[in-house]
Amino acid sequence: MNSDPVPGILSSFECKQENLLPILHAVQEVLGHIPSDRVEVIARALNISRAEVHGVITFYHHFRSTPIAQRHLQICKAEACQSMGANDLFDHALRRCGSKSDAQGASVALDAVYCLGLCAMSPALMMDGTPHGRVTTDALDKLLDLGR
Ligand code: FES
Repeated sequence: MNSDPVPGILSSFECKQENLLPILHAVQEVLGHIPSDRVEVIARALNISRAEVHGVITFYHHFRSTPIAQRHLQICKAEACQSMGANDLFDHALRRCGSKSDAQGASVALDAVYCLGLCAMSPALMMDGTPHGRVTTDALDKLLDLGR
């Protein structure tokens, strides 16, 4: 059995450039990301350059070139949270997680976001979709340790 789903996905679309977006969506839906070694295959099938495929992948934030991390940490760096130490919190998270969200194989994807609607509870963050307010570095450490 062939474990690469990309040829099957390509065969389900007419091979024309207009189908690049739906093909990329289909590949990401199946694989969770668009591996760099599949870009060449997609480009060849659509008779376009690798640079064109890569350009579309990097233009749309939805598309990922690396696998999604197991956990997702979003720290608000908007004004209210910044005034309550969000930048220090973010730097602390970066030291703990060791990478931002595009890092390959990261177990925690870390992203800066700009207002979670929790301004009255600054600094705020979202861990795996759950909001947390008035977060200290100790509280963040506990959240990160829970996922281990
Ligand atoms: S500014 Fe951080 S939640 Fe609004």
